[in-house]
Amino acid sequence: MLTVPQNIVIRPSTDDDVPAMLEIYRHQISKGVGDLGAYEAEPLRSEDLKQRRKSMRKRRLPHLVADVAGVIAGYAYAVPFRKRPAYRYTLKHSIYVHDDFQRAGIGRLLLPALIEACTQAGYLQMIGYIDSTNEASLRLHEACGFQRVGYLKSVGFKYGQWGDSVMVQCPLGQGDAALPGPWQAAEAPALA
Ligand SMILES: CC(C)(COP(=O)(O)OP(=O)(O)OC[C@H]1O[C@@H](n2cnc3c(N)ncnc32)[C@H](O)[C@@H]1OP(=O)(O)O)[C@@H](O)C(=O)NCCC(=O)NCCS
Repeated sequence: MLTVPQNIVIRPSTDDDVPAMLEIYRHQISKGVGDLGAYEAEPLRSEDLKQRRKSMRKRRLPHLVADVAGVIAGYAYAVPFRKRPAYRYTLKHSIYVHDDFQRAGIGRLLLPALIEACTQAGYLQMIGYIDSTNEASLRLHEACGFQRVGYLKSVGFKYGQWGDSVMVQCPLGQGDAALPGPWQAAEAPALA
């Protein structure tokens, strides 16, 4: 187990971070991690990631990196849970940490930062789907306040085997303790 790097900064990603994020993502695909691997029909391109970042900024959706003295050690982002307006307060997220920084405490910094950014943007629920064999991710999410709320059996197929998903959920801010205000995520102003 590594120790948490001292000089780590969690910050919004920029276009300059795209190559490093792609490298992390492609490496995880090659390992068949989580819901990636053989499920991926088309490889993610640099332009796709830049476009995704741009549309997320417009909707106040956070896209964060963990920067260790200029090296991108991981990234995390959230997207709408579903497109229909009824689900506008709910997000689903992804988090990836570079292999060289695994179990160094990056996830424990990055995931709470993502939760905080989503809360500040006015969202009220956060959902994650985790491969049932991904012990690291299950534990990280539990440590950061997510609860297991569902078990989806044989919803994936990769490397000749069925795969199960665990659905985890974390309320943001006051969650469902009160009715939401007039704010509407789809119409929220773009971040500067
Ligand atoms: C899951 C992942 C994001 C965790 O990030 P990380 O920076 O390595 O996690 P941290 O070092 O902050 O560890 C936080 C906690 O998660 C758990 N954890 C992390 N790695 C673990 C491992 N290899 N085995 C078991 N538990 C692990 C532990 O509970 C750990 O706390 P502890 O070290 O105090 O025991 C990282 O392993 C990763 O990027 N995996 C590949 C991509 C992926 O699976 N993403 C999630 C898809 S749902």
